[in-house]
Amino acid sequence: MLVTTKEMLLDAQAGHYAVGAFNVENLEFVMAVIKAAEDKHSPVIMQTTPGTIKYANLDYFAAMVRVAAESASVPVALHLDHGDGFDRCMQALRAGYTSVMIDGSHVPFEENMALTESVTKVAIAMGVPVEAELGKVGGKEDDGPAVKGENPYTDPDEAEEFVNRTKCSSLAVGVGTAHGVYKGTPHIEQGVLKEIRNRVDVPLVLHGTSGVPDDQVAEAIKNGICKVNYATELRQAFTRGFMGYMAENPNNFDPKKPSKPGMEEIYKVVASHMDNLGSTNKA
Ligand code: 13P
Ligand code: ZN
Ligand code: NA
Repeated sequence: MLVTTKEMLLDAQAGHYAVGAFNVENLEFVMAVIKAAEDKHSPVIMQTTPGTIKYANLDYFAAMVRVAAESASVPVALHLDHGDGFDRCMQALRAGYTSVMIDGSHVPFEENMALTESVTKVAIAMGVPVEAELGKVGGKEDDGPAVKGENPYTDPDEAEEFVNRTKCSSLAVGVGTAHGVYKGTPHIEQGVLKEIRNRVDVPLVLHGTSGVPDDQVAEAIKNGICKVNYATELRQAFTRGFMGYMAENPNNFDPKKPSKPGMEEIYKVVASHMDNLGSTNKA
């Protein structure tokens, strides 16, 4: 069934696990992710960035995920990832998304609060929860800003003020992760996360999780993370499966054939993360 992320993340918070949020880019991603969620009896969030929405559009993804969710035995939410403005969030609401993120992390603190509040006022009144971001996640997500400069970590004092003022439903935090592929080994600042947790009671969200060792993610969940985002690992998995088939069958011209191993690779990645996040058998 299609649900919002509200109960899903509060249940995760109460149960000390996290729900995986997987970026879907086409029909094959949607089918692979829903199959993993069904087999693992896990709640699941499927999400799309503005870049993915430019590739197809909100209505295509809303339709695909609605079809997947309607026949699924597990709760499924459709989330706008890295919403890049008030208008985009409104478009997602209208298309039937059941959760939105407004990413104001690239503008100054006061502006971020005002932007976030403009979205929470409308979305929450409509029953749709809002994820906001404070602090910086490194790397580049789509057309979003690359982070350079001083302290990328979320300030716990600011986090408290931010959540109180904006009434956001969940908060994405900067604790050392980065979008895309890591050059070295990533390191989550668990101490910063704990401090934020002590000041803020909404579910916390981890971005940039592809490439982060499972034990660090599990530790972050103990320290308050309730939603964990994966995009890059799914892209890599699909391409690995697809290209592997094409390398062995260079004369093939039926896209369904290489897409199958592509989906199988996504399935394995998603299923294994569900086990590590603790969401397996929580649906
Ligand atoms: P990765 O690029 O590390 O998968 O990050 C995903 C993400 O944060 C999506 O919002
Ligand atoms: Zn992200
Ligand atoms: Na990453």
